[in-house]
Amino acid sequence: KVEKKLDVLCLGAAVVDIPLRPVSREVFDIESYPVDNIAMAVGGDAMNESTIISRLGCKTGLMAAIGDDAAGAFILRSCDEDNIDTEGVTIDPNLNTSINIGLVTEDGERTFITNRNGSLWKENIEHVNFDKIKEAKILSLASIFNCPLLDGKTLEKIFSFAKEHGMTITADMIMPRLGETLDDIAGALQYVDYFFPNYDEACLMTGEKDEAKVADKLFSYGIKNVVMKIGTRGCYIRNKDGVMIVPACKGITAVDTIGAGDNFASGFIAALLQGKDIKECAEYANCTAAIAVQHPGATSGVQNRQMVEDMLKKYKEDYK
Ligand code: ADP
Ligand code: NA
Repeated sequence: KVEKKLDVLCLGAAVVDIPLRPVSREVFDIESYPVDNIAMAVGGDAMNESTIISRLGCKTGLMAAIGDDAAGAFILRSCDEDNIDTEGVTIDPNLNTSINIGLVTEDGERTFITNRNGSLWKENIEHVNFDKIKEAKILSLASIFNCPLLDGKTLEKIFSFAKEHGMTITADMIMPRLGETLDDIAGALQYVDYFFPNYDEACLMTGEKDEAKVADKLFSYGIKNVVMKIGTRGCYIRNKDGVMIVPACKGITAVDTIGAGDNFASGFIAALLQGKDIKECAEYANCTAAIAVQHPGATSGVQNRQMVEDMLKKYKEDYK
């Protein structure tokens, strides 16, 4: 068996976020609108995931398309700082790296202004380096539907290739942007070992409302382990052994749940790589996400593995 160079390869979006807060609904009534801070931050599900997984001590690669521009350079610099392998990143001179402007009101309501011609919308199979993918033990598809050109048929090709190379496949999802349905991704889902939708996304995909029915339906598509995030209640797992709810951390005051899902998946994957069983992976995922929701943004919470280990110790005490 070939020794794998990477633990995990995260495929998906790498973008730049510029959050602006506080912004009122009357923003156009004022000639110059002051906010507390304006700064770029890295974002995108694959970028967030690879950042957190790398900080948790795993050899992590990012696969994404960026432009040959300042935003792209910012992403590469951030990867460098977090020790992320970028051989799988395509710098495509025909692309503009996606930049998302986030407007957030005083009371936390938010909207995003996005570039409909940015790299996130243009990332496609041409940017997928199959030789690089097979260097990893785990392929993480950070959000089905986020890059619309990585559609169900494309993912099926990528996932079957990964399986041929003995990889474990994990996938998160976001709400479809173009009205895609469960049937559009059925061919891809049959290869997925761990699937991380949240409850709302899973409901939309399955047309069910009852937790058990939602999870059963996803399981019937051949997913080995459905790991459905259920917010403050933790996660609901359905696999061949049955059903299990793994509760979230207690006593957490969430200040920003942006990126909670990305951190959950990251913690889960890091735990898989530590050889933990599925319940332990879910606990580790809950602890990783619990740290994230206590900090603004997706990557400002979890800085290292010790933070998650400390949270896990408290978790074990709380549920003793
Ligand atoms: P998503 O971010 O994808 O919408 P959820 O909102 O379900 O997903 O949150 C993901 C995970 O974050 C949950 O499974 C849980 O582990 C954790 N989490 C979210 N909110 C809280 C909270 N208030 N307290 C503790 N854990 C939380
Ligand atoms: Na999500």
